[in-house]
Amino acid sequence: MPRTDTPPAPPRTRGNALPPAARGLLLYCREGFEKECAQDLSHILEANGWSGYCVARPMSALVEWIAHDGSIPATRLPALSELVFARQLLLMGERLTDLAPGQRVEALLAAAKALAPAFSGIVVETAYTDAARELSALAKSLAPALTRAAKASGMLQTEAGLPRLHVLIENGSAALVAAAVPGNCSDWHMGVPRLKMPAAAPSRATLKLHEAFLTLLTEAEREQLLQPGMTAVDLGAAPGGWTWQLVRRHLRVTAVDNAAIAPELLDSGLVRHQREDGFRFRPPKTVDWMVCDMVEQPSRIAKLAAQWLAAGWCRHTIFNLKLPMRRRYEEVERCRALIADALGGAPHELRIKQLFHDREEVSAYLAPAPPVKTRGGRKNPL
Ligand SMILES: C[S@@+](CC[C@H](N)C(=O)[O-])C[C@H]1O[C@@H](n2cnc3c(N)ncnc32)[C@H](O)[C@@H]1O
Repeated sequence: MPRTDTPPAPPRTRGNALPPAARGLLLYCREGFEKECAQDLSHILEANGWSGYCVARPMSALVEWIAHDGSIPATRLPALSELVFARQLLLMGERLTDLAPGQRVEALLAAAKALAPAFSGIVVETAYTDAARELSALAKSLAPALTRAAKASGMLQTEAGLPRLHVLIENGSAALVAAAVPGNCSDWHMGVPRLKMPAAAPSRATLKLHEAFLTLLTEAEREQLLQPGMTAVDLGAAPGGWTWQLVRRHLRVTAVDNAAIAPELLDSGLVRHQREDGFRFRPPKTVDWMVCDMVEQPSRIAKLAAQWLAAGWCRHTIFNLKLPMRRRYEEVERCRALIADALGGAPHELRIKQLFHDREEVSAYLAPAPPVKTRGGRKNPL
């Protein structure tokens, strides 16, 4: 099923060239979602004409894509932002499997050098699984030694646009060497944002919307689209974690839910509680945001979000899609198609991501596509 939204163009490394020795891609994902991550990646790479295969060991939180001819094509890399289930996207170098304790640094730096001549920094990490986290002490102890040796050899440089070296520890004697392309990778350690639970927020779900703002919007969009005095509707708002994120940014919120909203939020003077069915509620006039965390079939939520946009009830929307137990990738693609259909082919921006704070779910941002600038000016069809 072709994708109808247009992902942002991925950034390039210096001189538009990818590190020549990358033999594939390495993705980090949520433990248990390796299959979906591989399906999504394969779909995009096939569309880009890349030939290779995925290795997605269940519960490894990793997906490897290996190029059939031994190195990745020097053409368009997928953008991390278009990969729904990936937290991190790296260019994969060698896997070292017989690292002896006294020789790890030397062997890893030799493998790094084969991947790229210079790096901006070094990260040593493990996969985000309980089993792999037991190796974090080894990763922590290796990082300073590797950095010292890389500095001494002149591999670490300050020039802009250099890749960052990632060493993924797989066990006491095995590690994968990989590189992050600046602007097309996560700068969070292991691709995981460490967001502090705000003591005043009424639910942990608040972290989902916080992470959605950080991940699905650019910094410029956050500044422009989340301004004091703007208006929002929160469908399925109780007890109010998402509403809290909006109130924190001084937006005025209509919180729609038959269940109770935390009294502190109502006391803020910025929240109006509406006890109503979220599928029936209509705003009296256009709001800047509709956010939705109702527990419902993903297709119903996807259609509802598109309806809000198409009818002009909101300008932007962020919503959560609770995925079924099976065929989760297919369900995301189905929702994508339903949205395109409901918008009648009108250009739109749809960004979907499984956030760290999402469990069996994904989060999405939907808005009209920015109008294309022509000499005569052109109105957005939505
Ligand atoms: C996961 S909770 C929302 C948590 C909330 N986002 C927060 O941060 O605290 C889902 C909420 O959706 C509400 N809900 C489910 N179906 C609904 C509907 N049709 N109309 C309105 N609310 C609904 C439930 O009452 C429940 O409070």
